[in-house]
Amino acid sequence: MSKELKNASEQYLGALEQELRSVLNAGPGSPDTFYGMMHYHMGWVDERLQPFQVSSGKQIRPLLCLLCCTASGGRWQQALPAAAAIELLHNFSLIHDDIEDASDTRRGRTTLWKIWGIEQAINSGDSMFAIAHLAMNRLIERQVEAATVVSALRRFDETCVHLTQGQHADMSFETRQQVSVDDYLAMITGKTAILLSLCAELGALIGGADAHKTAHFAAFGLQLGLAFQVQDDILGIWGDESVTGKSAATDVTTRKKTLPILYGLEKSESLRKLYALPENSEDFVRQVVAILDSCGAKTYASEAALAYSESALSHLEAAQPTGEAGEALRQLADMLLRRNS
Ligand code: IPE
Ligand code: IPE
Ligand code: MG
Ligand code: MG
Repeated sequence: MSKELKNASEQYLGALEQELRSVLNAGPGSPDTFYGMMHYHMGWVDERLQPFQVSSGKQIRPLLCLLCCTASGGRWQQALPAAAAIELLHNFSLIHDDIEDASDTRRGRTTLWKIWGIEQAINSGDSMFAIAHLAMNRLIERQVEAATVVSALRRFDETCVHLTQGQHADMSFETRQQVSVDDYLAMITGKTAILLSLCAELGALIGGADAHKTAHFAAFGLQLGLAFQVQDDILGIWGDESVTGKSAATDVTTRKKTLPILYGLEKSESLRKLYALPENSEDFVRQVVAILDSCGAKTYASEAALAYSESALSHLEAAQPTGEAGEALRQLADMLLRRNS
């Protein structure tokens, strides 16, 4: 990680952890099972709810929010409740996403629903969703103006609706034969990009950017989110499970319409035939990956991710980010494009 981004991460992420622990009721000692399940998902306790620190994820969303606040000339401490709220919203969506995608592994550990069952995992996700809203209200305690807090809360809720709309599309595409690249783009805009856009937008709003700059920050986050999801699609097929912490096969076995798969379906008759079978044949994953490799689906998706990342950077320049935070944002965009986890 380069210097400016490393400095910012060191400065912000400790404070973020404190804010997250405070809203999730994480004091010393073991939590009760209700909070414990959420703490397990956050990587703070093990399956027996004993203190244990593992990865809480990359935390790129809060980092993006706090950097955009600083790069707009604001004080990042004021945006901390919004950064924590967004990270909680993201984690709520992952708890439910793992049920929806039947995923067994997240961040290298057994998923919450695999341990406590689907019913309790839905409930845990619901409570984290509500706690994310409560976290947003703490902006008032940081002397953010009431009118700004109300606007931020409205954008937060609009984003939640859009995110679940994207998840709806993602699941419905599993059983739909005809999915266009435009359908796919609308789907990933909802399930992923809109939340990265909100990070940048709220950071800029709280940082005091004018409407024009805030719109460029939001567009930067959106394009970065598209690049991020295309990269996630690539890792979902070709990633190393021991690095991503997620199973590499489920996008294929659940017949997700990710960008490399859409490209393969367009180019290869054999893939269309395989996908038309009612059941996954034996050796299904290996055959699908071999076809995707032979038609250049990975290169196609990598080029798309690069194009979105370049578009993100041009919006960032138009937003005129200031100081070290501006440089750290450029580095973050570059790091996300080259990530392998
Ligand atoms: C995973 O997001 C879900 C997607 C939108 C692709 P991240 O890759 O940011 O997950 P964590 O928080 O770092 O685990
Ligand atoms: C990401 O979903 C979007 C949300 C969770 C809202 P994916 O299903 O593509 O992400 P991973 O690969 O499970 O992290
Ligand atoms: Mg999903
Ligand atoms: Mg998933």
